[in-house]
Amino acid sequence: MLFSDDTDALVAADRAHSWHPFTQMRAWCDPAHEPLVLVEGEGAILRDSRGREYLDGNSSIWTNLHGHNHPRLNAAIRAQLDRVAHISFLGSTNAPAARLAERLCALFPPRTLTRAFFSDNGSTAIEVALKMAVQFWQLDGRPERDRFIAFDRAYHGDTAGAASVGGIASFHGRFERMHFPVERIASVEELDAIAHPETLAAVVIEPLVQGAAGIRLWPAGMLRTLRAWCDAHGVFLILDEVLTGFGRTGAMFACEREGVIPDFLCLAKGLSGGYLPLAATLTTERVFERFLGETAEERTLYYGHSYTGNPLACAAALASLDIFRDDRTLDRLAPKIDRMRDLLAGLATHPRVREVRQCGFIAGIEIGADKETPYPWTELRGARVCEAARAHGLLTRPVLDTIVLMPPYCTTDEQLAQAVDAIRRGIDEVCR
Ligand SMILES: Cc1ncc(COP(=O)(O)O)c(C=O)c1O
Repeated sequence: MLFSDDTDALVAADRAHSWHPFTQMRAWCDPAHEPLVLVEGEGAILRDSRGREYLDGNSSIWTNLHGHNHPRLNAAIRAQLDRVAHISFLGSTNAPAARLAERLCALFPPRTLTRAFFSDNGSTAIEVALKMAVQFWQLDGRPERDRFIAFDRAYHGDTAGAASVGGIASFHGRFERMHFPVERIASVEELDAIAHPETLAAVVIEPLVQGAAGIRLWPAGMLRTLRAWCDAHGVFLILDEVLTGFGRTGAMFACEREGVIPDFLCLAKGLSGGYLPLAATLTTERVFERFLGETAEERTLYYGHSYTGNPLACAAALASLDIFRDDRTLDRLAPKIDRMRDLLAGLATHPRVREVRQCGFIAGIEIGADKETPYPWTELRGARVCEAARAHGLLTRPVLDTIVLMPPYCTTDEQLAQAVDAIRRGIDEVCR
């Protein structure tokens, strides 16, 4: 436990020298704002430097699965740390990374997704898929297949390639000139209007639910329709399961819910149990084999990062998969998903709640002046509700006026009820 002077010193250092992501730093540095200094975690609970406890209502930005300070994850990382913390995946392999590639591919039917390419985060998992798709078509003698289709309001990360297939103007609009051109559609119905599908490389989508768009659900069956369209036109399907992967939707992967296997599957966030930065792009043997040849043929994928295949992160990911198996995590999650639905049904009738959207253990509660009228976004109601909920023991962030509720899977029924109650009280206080 840190003492309060340490908190003050930390905050002073942070204000003087840190720059936080997605944060208006003037507001952050305003003396009236009390930055949160988190020091400990245990299960679904986080503790701050002043000893206050919060439920981790957004799983630390959608990463944590089994809870904080999990003994098995801790032990796996410690055991690997006693061997070696990091070694390059360029020119050598290591046991956790090799075993993890094998285990990830084994989560899919044989001869479907058979190769895992590691990187560091969700954005890079997408970059890898985009570059593999483009290079595949070049090596396949069809370099004209270089166009991408993406969806309105999509979010695939902030690096230039991932942002190119993103569709959130407020995040990415000003960097437009750095992005490659992409055709954007709002629904699968618009696919038939796409000219020259024979020059498409791939379609990219967040399956079942668009997270950063404000937890927006796709219609049931949409993913299956998309897969069929891609097959009919020989176009790759890239699924971004950075958010939805590893149980969030109730199935291990969202694509399972519609019986779809993509050509590229992008994983990050929960891959390491939410412990360490790690991403994987899974693909098929068909894709992999196109890249094989003599070095001089220049078929090699020249892409990689210094920490690719990091043994600590891969050891954590293996332990996370062990927990899924041994604790029957998905079976035990199913009743909690129902419980979340019941609790949120109570909130849906609140006069300031426009809509409640839920997919598995992911929920968005959209607030507004009334059922039809959104608040002006400049009023920052969503952020203010989250700040008010913090005083009632819930830590989460909104997407504009949609409050996100996506706690770790170890959250108890009682904690879930407290979280929903904290949101209700936050709404009552901010939107009276
Ligand atoms: C669906 C999706 N894809 C990609 C990303 C980017 O991941 P990262 O922040 O690890 O780069 C995110 C992050 O929220 C996401 O939700």
